[in-house]
This record gives sequence, structure tokens and C-alpha cells, in this order.
Amino acid sequence: MSIQQDNQFQAIISHAKEYGFVFPSSEIYDGLSAVYDYGPYGSELKKNIRDYWWKSMTQMHENIVGIDAAIFMHPTTWKASGHVDNFSDPMIDNKDSKKRYRVDHLLEAKADQLREKGEQQAADTLLASMDALLAAEDFAGLKELIIDQKIVCSVSGTANWTDIRQFNLMFSTQLGSVAEDADTIYLRPETAQGIFVNFLNVQKTARMKIPFGIAQTGKAFRNEIVARQFIFRMREFEQMEMQFFVRPGTEGEWYQYWKEARLQWHLSLGISKDKYRYHDHVKLAHYAKEACDIEFEFPFGFKEVEGIHSRSDFDLTQHQLYSKKKMQYFDTEINQNYVPYVVETSIGLDRMFLLVMANAYEEETIAKEDGTTDSRVVMHIPAKIAPVKLAVLPLTKKDGLPELARELMDECKPYFKCFYEEKDAIGKRYRRQDAIGTPFCVTIDHQTKEDQTVTIRYRDSMVQERVLMSKVKDLVLEQVM
Ligand code: GAP
Repeated sequence: MSIQQDNQFQAIISHAKEYGFVFPSSEIYDGLSAVYDYGPYGSELKKNIRDYWWKSMTQMHENIVGIDAAIFMHPTTWKASGHVDNFSDPMIDNKDSKKRYRVDHLLEAKADQLREKGEQQAADTLLASMDALLAAEDFAGLKELIIDQKIVCSVSGTANWTDIRQFNLMFSTQLGSVAEDADTIYLRPETAQGIFVNFLNVQKTARMKIPFGIAQTGKAFRNEIVARQFIFRMREFEQMEMQFFVRPGTEGEWYQYWKEARLQWHLSLGISKDKYRYHDHVKLAHYAKEACDIEFEFPFGFKEVEGIHSRSDFDLTQHQLYSKKKMQYFDTEINQNYVPYVVETSIGLDRMFLLVMANAYEEETIAKEDGTTDSRVVMHIPAKIAPVKLAVLPLTKKDGLPELARELMDECKPYFKCFYEEKDAIGKRYRRQDAIGTPFCVTIDHQTKEDQTVTIRYRDSMVQERVLMSKVKDLVLEQVM
């Protein structure tokens, strides 16, 4: 990350805290590493992103239904899914500082440094070697690569590395009150398994016919060893996942369909296509047929925000094996019973939140008519998901203006989130709304009393125009639906 990018990222983190988007968890006790709380505007924005995803999946697709499964699941779930045995990352420790690193993160950071120095070719070669060694699970080779690249620990500055080992990322706890009898259970590391174990319940009760999907949003937990970059990599986070069940043999087409459809979802928020790219996986899980990430250009480089995975019949077959319950579907079109194949779309809600914040943040210099300049911090959050849609601002606290403003508030607030404020100069109030990303501000002034018009100000262009107060609700609704 260049100094300029780092400064911008730090500015976004400070802004998120100052304006009530994201706070460090239990901050009065100095916070908890890689755990965060969402404030008044953050929780609205997060909910709006979640709703936007939920609507696109379950309302816009007649063949996708939702569920809300528990975080705690029977421990055998995680044996069947492979998480107990395989959900681990290769790690390496620096013997001098005792600091632990994820191997791929160390190598990716080195590739970023090479790129910044203009050595694109060397960076590409390094990443290709890393991918090949990871795919072969060649840990000795990976260690050699770290040493050859002269990668040192950021704390000790030495290259005194341990061998590479695997660490499981699941959190465990005890279910039951008496320690000796208690069962070890896990906090789910992904929401997907709650969908797989409910496959038959959902298919039967909602009378779903293949191809169909089950969507779910909810918390997931991973004991990330290297948790940094704010809410990009957290220990408690939220996922929005959809498992699409298909007839074996059709998974290739459905994988392509969802790969494209999910990118379109991102673009439907008006975010530039240039900020996105696909990363097709070289290292595939043994059951996976195809997999890719949708990457976004964060201030710290292109990074994964969503994964699309063709998971074959692996999960359902495993649950069938461990539960001894048939996980089959009878396909009346071809008169056959089979275990369906699955194409999964999986996006991190917090990561999407960071994407929206990073994309929206701008420190803008404004040229004034008198030749001087002014500045503002503006969050260009897409209107559809902005925490507050409309700010209603009476110019003064008297002359009946607050009463008129209240009338507009009462008309609009059943439809979308509004904010009322009568304190401070109007310019100052506009700036505060810019900082939280409110797309529309309406000012009620003395002219409103004469001709029922108000001034509407657009956040991005700062253009102001007069419109009838009675038109405001529909004007905003048109932009936010
Ligand atoms: N069910 C598949 C699955 O969980 P994943 O690639 O491990 O796949 C999917 O995770 C998405 O969840 C990622 O693309 C990312 O957006 C989000 N995610 C994963 N780990 C995360 C973490 N520690 N903090 C925040 N988001 C995370």
C-alpha cells in the first residue's frame, strides 16, 4: 500500500468512527482485536446492504427462498463438512518476534511491494509460484520461496522463520452445564452448512423444484490469525450466502450464470466496473469443480469480496454419509433420484460495507465563485442503500417553518429514513449530511409559506432547485427504490 493509499484508508477508518458508522468493539476497554460494532449510521447502512441482497435473491428470483438457521449446530456437521479436519491455513511464525503470519498474506504483500516498484513481471511470477505451491500443499517449497524473496518480519526485521504449519480457524465452546458432560460445539465458520442440513426441510415444505436456491444471511466466526485491515478481516462477521441446487451435469452453466449475475448485482449499485475483476482459483478444494472470487480495488489493492463456487454434490453427500439420512431429490422430469449439485454464492456483508465506504469516500475541493476554494468530505453512497435518504431542514427555528418541515417529515418517514434538524447554519447542516451520505436535503424557507415550494439539494452535484413540497416524497422514492 502506498503512503497515499494508506492515508486514505486511515481517513476512511477515522471517518467511520467519527460519524457513527463503525466503532472498535468494547472500546472503553481498549477494544477487542478484529471485532467491531456498528453505530447508528453503520447499522442502517449494513441493514440496507443486507436488504438489497436479500431482495435481489429471494424477491427477484421466484425459485430462491430464505432461511434463518441457528449459529450453533450439531458438532457432527463440521466433521461432515470437513471443517474439523481441513479448515486451516498455512502459517509461519517469526522466531524472534513470535509473530504469526498467514503464508499467502506474506507473499501477497511482497508481490504488492514489487508492483509498487514497477516490477510487475516479478510480482506475477511470485504469485504464480505461490499458487502452484499452495495447490500442491508444498510447505517446504513455500518456506523456501519466503526465504528466497528475502521476506522479513515487520516487527523483528529478521528472516528467522519456523516451518510452516496448519492452524484450525474454528472457535469452540461447551454446550451443557456440567463441564465433564459438556459437548464441544463450534461457532459456525460459514452460514452455508445451515442451508445444507435443511435442504430436505426446505425442499419439501416450500415445494421447491430443481433448480432452486436457499439464501441466508447471518453471523460467522473465524479465529483469523492475521486479522487486520479494519473490517476486511474480522473474527466475528456476517455472510450472505446462497446455495443453488441443480441437476448434475448442469452445474457448469449455472456457475457461469451466477458468476455473471453476482457481478451485475455489484454494478447495479452504480459502482464502476473498473473497480472490479474476477480471480479464477488455481487451487481448488478437492470437491470443487470451479471457483472464482469477485475482487474489488480497495485502498490496499484488489481483494476478494465475494466467492462463487461450484461445490459438486460434496456437502449433501457428506451429510448423507454422516447422518445416514438420504439427501436426494426425485426429478420428475427425468424420473430419477439424485443428490443435487450445488453452485454457491458467498459474500461478506462487512466486506461489502467496507467496499461501499471505500468507494463512497471523497475529500472534495470546491471552487467558489469568488475564486476561493472550500472543501468537504462527501460519502457518495448509492441512494438505494444510504443510511438516511432525506434530511429535512427548516431555515430558521421560527415563523412556522419547523411546523411545515414536520409536515414533510410525517409524510415521508413511513416510506424511507428521514432526518430532521433545525440547529446551526444551513451550510454546516449540509456538510454533516454529506459526511453521512444523505443523497437529498430539503430546506424549508419563507418562500415555502407563500408558494409551497422547497429547495432540494443533491448531495453529489450540490445542485439546488425549487420543487413543490408535495412532490418531494415521490422524487426521493423514485431514486431509492
Ligand atoms: N461458504 C463459503 C465461504 O465461506 P469464503 O471464501 O471462506 O467462502 C466467503 O467466505 C466470503 O465471506 C468472503 O468472500 C468474504 O467476503 C467473507 N469473509 C470470509 N472471511 C471473512 C473474515 N474473516 N472477515 C470478514 N469477511 C470474511
